[in-house]
Amino acid sequence: MSAQILDGKVISSEIKQEIKSNVGTRLAQGLRRPGLAVVLVGENPASQVYVRSKRRSCEEVGFYSELHELAGDASQGELLNLIDSLNAKEAIDGILVQLPLPEQIDEEAVIERILPTKDVDGFHPYNVGRLSLRMPILRPCTPKGVMTMLARTGVDLVGKDAVIIGQSNIVGRPMALELLAARCTITVCHSKTKDLEGKCRNADIVVAGVGRANFVQGDWIKPGAIVIDVGINRLESGKLCGDVDFEACKAKAAWITPVPGGVGPMTIATLLENTLQAAELHSNV
Ligand code: GUN
Repeated sequence: MSAQILDGKVISSEIKQEIKSNVGTRLAQGLRRPGLAVVLVGENPASQVYVRSKRRSCEEVGFYSELHELAGDASQGELLNLIDSLNAKEAIDGILVQLPLPEQIDEEAVIERILPTKDVDGFHPYNVGRLSLRMPILRPCTPKGVMTMLARTGVDLVGKDAVIIGQSNIVGRPMALELLAARCTITVCHSKTKDLEGKCRNADIVVAGVGRANFVQGDWIKPGAIVIDVGINRLESGKLCGDVDFEACKAKAAWITPVPGGVGPMTIATLLENTLQAAELHSNV
């Protein structure tokens, strides 16, 4: 068997086209453009790349966007003041503070300061709580983007065994909540998990987000499984690769996401979806 590719570039560009047309409709109705504020603290090169890509995508779909860059030694107070001003600003529907933050800043305090209706990352405890209660409003972008990809397979998720590798607040935990809400049976694996391979071998769906290059082996994959690779790792050669040994897993799976061009572009398209959703919440349409 050779898996079909879940092409994040194709799916995300379709989503962006829909959003762009929705923005056109809003403008024709006299509503304003959705607005996203992106906040970057310090000079993490990977974060700079992500932030640039998020802003470029805003332009593509006709959103208003602002970039706020703070120095790497900025204080928590400075960042909280900026968030307060963005919370109060009418043109801004979504606030995204790129993570990780420098160590002098408490990430949880920052996330909690963002108004839940402007929390387009879906990281605020209010939004995570709503997702866990199956009454989501703004949902974390990467797991929501994965659910969009899973829907494109046409496979019925109800009753499927899903193994999630990684328990981060950004990927593993909300991914588990999404799959549980879709009525999968979920297993969340982490560094203390016993027999990770055995758990994977029984899984209908494997989602890997551990940040270890080529970690998931081909012989861990049940024939016909769906393999979703959320990892993005840079090898010494400079080449990007995921958490999944792509060629070996592709030979076993029914569906697989590539890296790059899989989950990454979906995260950004989903951020745009969330920003449009936030704009609708704010303008009550
Ligand atoms: N850093 C890595 N992924 C993300 C994300 O989805 N949102 C934010 N704000 N920071 C990140």
